[in-house]
Amino acid sequence: MTLTDEGHYGPKQLNLLKTIWGEGFLSPGGSDEIDEIVKNIDVKNLNILDIGCGCGGAALHLINHHNASFVTGIDVEPLVIQRAKELASKRGLSDKTKFELVSPGPIDFEDESIDMVFSKETFLHIPDKEKLFENIFRMLKPHGIIAAGDWMRVDDNPPSPQMKKYIKAEGLDMYMCSLERYESILKNTGFKDIQIRDRNNWYLEKSKKEIIELRGPLYQAAIDAIGPEETEGAIQIWEKLIGVLEIGEHRPGHFTAVKA
Ligand SMILES: C[S@@+](CC[C@H](N)C(=O)[O-])C[C@H]1O[C@@H](n2cnc3c(N)ncnc32)[C@H](O)[C@@H]1O
Repeated sequence: MTLTDEGHYGPKQLNLLKTIWGEGFLSPGGSDEIDEIVKNIDVKNLNILDIGCGCGGAALHLINHHNASFVTGIDVEPLVIQRAKELASKRGLSDKTKFELVSPGPIDFEDESIDMVFSKETFLHIPDKEKLFENIFRMLKPHGIIAAGDWMRVDDNPPSPQMKKYIKAEGLDMYMCSLERYESILKNTGFKDIQIRDRNNWYLEKSKKEIIELRGPLYQAAIDAIGPEETEGAIQIWEKLIGVLEIGEHRPGHFTAVKA
């Protein structure tokens, strides 16, 4: 979402998302949604890589509430990495986390060095899914786990005019693919025990509550965070978002799988 001319995930954008989604989170659902993604996984003592860690909320939650041993968060935006480091320090978790700025493209970690790859609402920004999953497979230890949430589409046909308008309003590069496509890429890459969960209903209901809050109790906080015009712009984006969730084309989802 580019609400201002600050580019992707600039300071105003981060302030708005913090107001709506909570400190450390650039995607909906906060810590409850992290719990939902990893609900069938024993995260205890795992060494985790969080791809597109944003402001660090998930990484810190995986340590504090799931007893992960260490989380390395990587992201392409310098400001979110700075915010993640600040939050880790504020919560006394700097020694169990590392947040690194990376360039888009292949992720440079050693083969078979990671227990679990976690990611939330980031893969939609990465166009070449096949290369991404090959890379993840390579970095995972044998029996390593991938657990991700992402914004997907109902199918892999060209987006409808309504969806195109929504994506344009967001102003971000979004390469959304279907849950089924993720399932087939995971299979072809060599993953097993693939579990896929569609979260459209959940986010449809939640986003309706979010817009009520944005128009009501959070309105002034949003204006303070980003300004009046941008707040109206954000409300319009949320209306478009609800529209594409309602027609079922926008399908947030989760998937988990194990390196065979
Ligand atoms: C919607 S935000 C989600 C952030 C975080 N996972 C969360 O849920 O709060 C998407 C994040 O992906 C990052 N991103 C975009 N392209 C990326 C890439 N190629 N590699 C790593 N991170 C990327 C963005 O900078 C942004 O922080």
